[in-house]
Amino acid sequence: MNISDSIKYIGVNDHKIDLFEGQYIVENGMAYNSYLVLDDKIAVFDTVDSNFTEEWLNNLKEQLGSRKPDYLIVQHMEPDHSAGITIFMDTYPDAVILSSAAAFNMMKQFFGQDFSDRRILIKDGDSLSLGKHSLTFVSAPMVHWPEVMVTYDSYEKVLFSADAFGKFGALDVDEDWACEARRYYIGIVGKYGMQVQNLLKKAAALDIETICPLHGPILHDNLSYYINLYQIWSSYSVETDGVFIAYTSVYGHTKEAAKLLAKKLEENGCPKVAISDLAREDMAECVEDAFRYGKLVLATTTYNAGIFPYMKEFLDHLTEHNFQNRTVAFIENGSWAPTAAKNMKLLLEPCKNLTFAQNEVHIKSALNEESLTQLEELATELCVEYHS
Ligand code: FEO
Repeated sequence: MNISDSIKYIGVNDHKIDLFEGQYIVENGMAYNSYLVLDDKIAVFDTVDSNFTEEWLNNLKEQLGSRKPDYLIVQHMEPDHSAGITIFMDTYPDAVILSSAAAFNMMKQFFGQDFSDRRILIKDGDSLSLGKHSLTFVSAPMVHWPEVMVTYDSYEKVLFSADAFGKFGALDVDEDWACEARRYYIGIVGKYGMQVQNLLKKAAALDIETICPLHGPILHDNLSYYINLYQIWSSYSVETDGVFIAYTSVYGHTKEAAKLLAKKLEENGCPKVAISDLAREDMAECVEDAFRYGKLVLATTTYNAGIFPYMKEFLDHLTEHNFQNRTVAFIENGSWAPTAAKNMKLLLEPCKNLTFAQNEVHIKSALNEESLTQLEELATELCVEYHS
């Protein structure tokens, strides 16, 4: 796969992986992208995961022919991109590494050496000429680790964007970009919206025609579509008008209430209703939906005087990822001392700019006339704006 006559793809697809970064289900695998820029001088952008360094080196050698690389540009030190550094430096003893000071510190930690005699230390705004290609390095701390930098090639108007604009999924599987890019973004960099906004501001000053991320497809066409989604996600704005109902249920009574609410929301004109059982569905997908929709309904049982474990875990993910700017409503169930609604609110205290719905649904074991009325009133409240 060629990006242009002089920029080549040398990455790999991983279909062996069970959990990406030790936690994310990736049914369609993962791509670890790496790029080669051929000019008077030759630069390689990042390496790949440790299980694929041999395949990657073969890809590199095939594209190089009889030439040798001059530079290894290390934009990110997370091992899915950095595991091949040592073997690359051993294979090409005349090559030099370019990276940030923070990245060289991490090399010392990961590999016991920081290549002090074969390196160029990069600061924000530094440039490197390969001949026609002129590379400018832009620091992008916390997108997704502190040492990260991205690189702009002004000759071909390419942004090598590190983890930004990546997605789950190998490149030999055809799937919707936004769905798996959103789950990837919210899960992996969702906490660092402000830092992503800073990077987007820097990128806005550049004339970009192609984005080459470290995961997922190379983006050429309609770049404003992807950049607009990144603007929405990183500013914690609402992407889709509608309600996401996240529930847990022990014997089915809370589930019944959640499903009934979904039906009533649709009857009341809610443009989109999504509903998930937190115990049975992919947690990362549920977290993604909480960030996607404008309103979130949390329905759970009281459990050991607190809340049911999967809901607790879900709320941990939300607070940890900086969940904010949303309307939240509560449905609680409890057969003797219901406290779930109060406890869910307490767990959401660190979140900024949440509006709690005035109507709550309090179920004592099973829905009855009183809680059905509360459910009706909550559906009406959540749909008021859709009628205006
Ligand atoms: Fe794809 Fe943050 O590593």
